[in-house]
Amino acid sequence: MKGLILSGGKGTRLYPLTYTRAKQLVPVANKPVLFRVIETLVDAGIRDIGIVVGDTANEIMEAVGKGRRWGVEITYIHQEAPLGLAHAVKISRDYLGDERFVMFLGDNVIQGGIAPLIRQFESSDWNCQVVLTPVSEPQHYGVAELDPDTRRIVRLVEKPRNPPSNLALVGIYMFDHHIHEAVESIRPSWRGELEITDAIQWLIEHGYEVHPYIHRGWWIDTGKPIDMLAANDLVLDEECEHRIEGYVDRDSVIQGRVTVQKGAEIINSTIRGPAIIGENTRIVNSYIGPYTSIYHDVVVEDSEIEHSIVLEGTRIEHISRLVDSLIGRNVELTRSPYKPKAYKMTLSDHSKVGVL
Ligand code: DAU
Repeated sequence: MKGLILSGGKGTRLYPLTYTRAKQLVPVANKPVLFRVIETLVDAGIRDIGIVVGDTANEIMEAVGKGRRWGVEITYIHQEAPLGLAHAVKISRDYLGDERFVMFLGDNVIQGGIAPLIRQFESSDWNCQVVLTPVSEPQHYGVAELDPDTRRIVRLVEKPRNPPSNLALVGIYMFDHHIHEAVESIRPSWRGELEITDAIQWLIEHGYEVHPYIHRGWWIDTGKPIDMLAANDLVLDEECEHRIEGYVDRDSVIQGRVTVQKGAEIINSTIRGPAIIGENTRIVNSYIGPYTSIYHDVVVEDSEIEHSIVLEGTRIEHISRLVDSLIGRNVELTRSPYKPKAYKMTLSDHSKVGVL
């Protein structure tokens, strides 16, 4: 089976973090979401992976490369504009051929692997398998209505105003070649996109076997900043281990599950896990609290940070307490020694700051 990862589109809802950056490359627990998706496919035995890329193609290609790091072969498929998930399948026709394949959205993080699911689909004669999960706000997703007796899918709707159930389509789909006929047959939706939901509805209406699988673990579509923090909490809880590859001086205290990546330095500081400190990052005279991921090449001095994500190249100095925050790349957050005593900020569009 082949894998198809969708990494095109524009990350407008993660603005301002993604003005210049592919949203799939934002790290959760210090690993880009897209790398997590690739690893999920590799764990399921998939070695041939196509990645659909758009405006941020160069950045994605630079980060992922040819896939040697995971022992897989990566093919890039260029989408001229984010015209929909079904459009992405359409332009991948030559790459996919007539093989069965699994399609995974490049900004989704799911608990546990999908290896058993993929094997099940591979050996079945189903035409499609979709992964569903109960959510509290189904109107933001594609939603499935199941027959109460047979548990078969009766209907799928994309972001319905009145959702027929609380079962959202998780961004993992498995198809056989009939999907190609479906994507050729549907028309763009009200939002101007060729919806994969409509293509699967087409399969159902034409008598093809669409099998629902209900996922019971957690799943996060990392589309919004609040979702990034939630994903960071869940992943740190699950996989953060006590591992010190950098330098921790004798005046520092490491409590709980803390990963200090190589080249990092912890000087006269307390780190309380679960937390991860990235490569070549320096933490000096500071406190890093639980559920915090500090990425590579960051400097934190005389500051306290808890339940936050800090991206690469950022400098945080003399900040008494930073919580529930998502700080982008190459940011400078410092206290000014000069009068007038006032907040001085250079913030990008859509930034959010809560001052005391
Ligand atoms: O996250 C699950 C939801 O994903 C499903 O419940 C919905 O049924 C499905 O339509 C999709 O909805 P979103 O509105 O969240 O999709 P989004 O536009 O965020 O795109 C998901 C991923 O696919 C993202 O990594 C960007 C990529 N993409 C998106 C489009 C529209 C492409 O590569 N090409 C595209 O044309």
